[in-house]
Amino acid sequence: MAHMITWLLLLLVWVAAGWAAWPRTELLNICMNAKHHKEKPGPEDKLHEQCSPWRKKACCSVNTSLEAHKDISYLYRFNWDHCGKMEPSCKRHFIQDTCLYECSPNLGPWIQEVNQSWRKERILNVPLCKEDCETWWNDCRTSYTCKSNWHKGWNWSSGYNQCPADAVCHRFDFYFPTPADLCNEIWSHSYKVSNYSRGSGRCIQMWFDPASGNPNEEVARFYAAKAKSGAGFHEVWPLQLGLALMLLWLLS
Ligand SMILES: *[C@@H]1O[C@H](CO)[C@@H](O)[C@H](O)[C@H]1NC(C)=O
Ligand SMILES: *[C@@H]1O[C@H](CO)[C@@H](O)[C@H](O)[C@H]1NC(C)=O
Ligand SMILES: *[C@@H]1O[C@H](CO)[C@@H](O)[C@H](O)[C@H]1NC(C)=O
Ligand SMILES: *[C@@H]1O[C@H](CO)[C@@H](O)[C@H](O)[C@H]1NC(C)=O
Repeated sequence: MAHMITWLLLLLVWVAAGWAAWPRTELLNICMNAKHHKEKPGPEDKLHEQCSPWRKKACCSVNTSLEAHKDISYLYRFNWDHCGKMEPSCKRHFIQDTCLYECSPNLGPWIQEVNQSWRKERILNVPLCKEDCETWWNDCRTSYTCKSNWHKGWNWSSGYNQCPADAVCHRFDFYFPTPADLCNEIWSHSYKVSNYSRGSGRCIQMWFDPASGNPNEEVARFYAAKAKSGAGFHEVWPLQLGLALMLLWLLS
């Protein structure tokens, strides 16, 4: 009987230690702590146009979804037309990228803390489906820009981003020779183009038809499980074993 209780206690300690050591216990169905995100995902029936696929469960408000479709919007005062007018066929990808960033509750596995004035968390290396990156790049090839990292180095003196004096306007494919150069570099590695295809359940889709649900839910579940089995169990088992042995010694 006494042995039975001992082993039950051991098991309890083991489980508790493993649980407590997980870095961020919830990776699913969360919103990052950034400039415009809601605290928690929830339904938003009226999300605007390209953001509407997220209306059943979104981290963005209706206002954010409206602003995501505007030039130099109140969101970030970002000027897509910094080297003349960006083609509409190209701009729609930037709108979709903004919708995914602001609205998706499925980016948890790639959320990282950052020390930035305008946000506490960012996304890093989100595995973007290769076709989503390729069409983005193809549709933007003939538009113009002056930089390959759009997070840094702008001249903001007029209240929106302008090309700095030393940056020359060239076609997109000058600054981004390949699709990966565009998707990985433009937002400082927020994305890392995946080798997986749309529909594989292993990469995040920027575009999807909500009629068949949000395909990114399954993707987040897959990578969250991977993250837990990696960081959760393997890194804390020495701690768990230590605690268990200590308890055994105390009770003997
Ligand atoms: C969204 O909210 C901001 C801040 O309150 C406001 O400046 C902006 O005009 C709003 N946009 C829309 C489309 O309502
Ligand atoms: C964040 O930046 C502030 C100011 O630059 C600094 O004092 C602080 O130590 C930084 N924190 C981390 C976690 O890097
Ligand atoms: C920034 O832009 C302003 C206004 O467009 C201009 O007067 C200034 O020279 C620019 N500064 C740099 C460093 O490019
Ligand atoms: C990506 O997939 C293609 C085709 O399935 C394969 O030929 C290629 O080696 C893969 N690349 C990487 C980096 O895994």
